[in-house]
Amino acid sequence: MRDFVFKNPTKILFGKGKISKLGEEVKGYASKVLLVYGRGSIKKNGVYDQVVSSLKNSNVSFVELSGIKPNPVLSKVKEGIEIARKEKVEAVVAVGGGSVIDTCKTIAAGFYYDGDIWDAFVGKYKVEKSLPIFVVLTISATGSEMNGGAVITNEETKQKFSFWTSSSYPKVSILDPSVQFTLPKIQTLNGAADAISHVLELYFDGTKNTLILDEISEGIIRTVMASTEILLKEPTNYDARANLVWSATLALNGINGTGRNGGDWSSHAIEHSLSALYDIAHGSGLAIVFPAWMRYVYKEDVPKFARFARKVFNVSSENDEEAALEGIEKLKGWYKSIGLPVTLDDAKIPKDEIEKVVENASMRTPFGKLKRLYPEDVREILKLCM
Ligand code: NZQ
Ligand code: ZN
Repeated sequence: MRDFVFKNPTKILFGKGKISKLGEEVKGYASKVLLVYGRGSIKKNGVYDQVVSSLKNSNVSFVELSGIKPNPVLSKVKEGIEIARKEKVEAVVAVGGGSVIDTCKTIAAGFYYDGDIWDAFVGKYKVEKSLPIFVVLTISATGSEMNGGAVITNEETKQKFSFWTSSSYPKVSILDPSVQFTLPKIQTLNGAADAISHVLELYFDGTKNTLILDEISEGIIRTVMASTEILLKEPTNYDARANLVWSATLALNGINGTGRNGGDWSSHAIEHSLSALYDIAHGSGLAIVFPAWMRYVYKEDVPKFARFARKVFNVSSENDEEAALEGIEKLKGWYKSIGLPVTLDDAKIPKDEIEKVVENASMRTPFGKLKRLYPEDVREILKLCM
């Protein structure tokens, strides 16, 4: 285990009915906010009404930015920055999932920056100041509700890039599992695959002697899998939702990233190229890429891949290499069994366009900690996605 500093400043309000507390939480920071949401789900399931009524009860006024799409885009961020400045808001409230939250984090940072906020994504500007951010989470997947990361697509350059900074941690995030009862099945599955991938990016970064972190990680993955299987049959099972919600938050709030080498993040880099080019859901893209990446790199740390197979899938083989390979197949098989895509074909991504993906990913290569990857490695991994 490596030395580390751990600090997570986000306050979490967890449980049924907790959205009513939003106004009280915001009031300490702002009397006027920018309220940001997606393309309509919150108006259908009553979350919008709960949010508005809580803000009104605390005399917090608001202006709106709606229509944030999955794989959120830079133009929408810029629209938000303009509204935030013109209306002199004092905080940003995200009501949605990763796409809405990341848009808010970028607006909150861009508010204080005179240049093009895209600079933060390409290393030309270090974000140190943001407007206060509040979150009402409606889909569990990214962990963005309790971390400092934001991922945005520059639709002109087809770059899906990220930044990570301490001023982007939400002040307060409200997690009411019951508002996720209305999620379409595929969105619950995308969320499960994303959460599992976050745990595995950290788990397979090559750091040794991380027993406590590995036990937490395997527990999160087993919980995500068990809860997802229940939700496939009973989408309104509160306890299964609650376990999935908190698991997805814990998967990327820093707790199991402590003491490690920062995580590998190659599968995320490759998936971000897929979603930049083909606009596929992030979780679906990871279900395709992650098992292929595992297959390509497992020889770098066979005992760890064998441990994963035994602890998560009860693989019984005593031979490490055999166990490692069986674990990878089991993960891919599980994704397939619940209805996620596991090949490029499944996601209707043309196989003869692999070079476009390699070229897009090469804007970021080399990446990866367990194995440093170059464009030729990305090409081989994509071939394993067929
Ligand atoms: O737009 P609406 O109508 O609200 O519909 C959304 C959207 O279509 C729908 N939805 C959300 N809550 C719902 C609901 N439908 C019914 N009932 C509800 N309660 O779900 C769809 C997907 O929403 P989105 O916010 O895109 O999902 P997710 O949370 O998976 O976010 C994905 C984005 O986050 C990035 C991804 O790359 C992707 O762009 N990531 C962010 C990370 C971070 N900030 O830490 C890390 C991740 O690795 C990831 O890269
Ligand atoms: Zn992710």
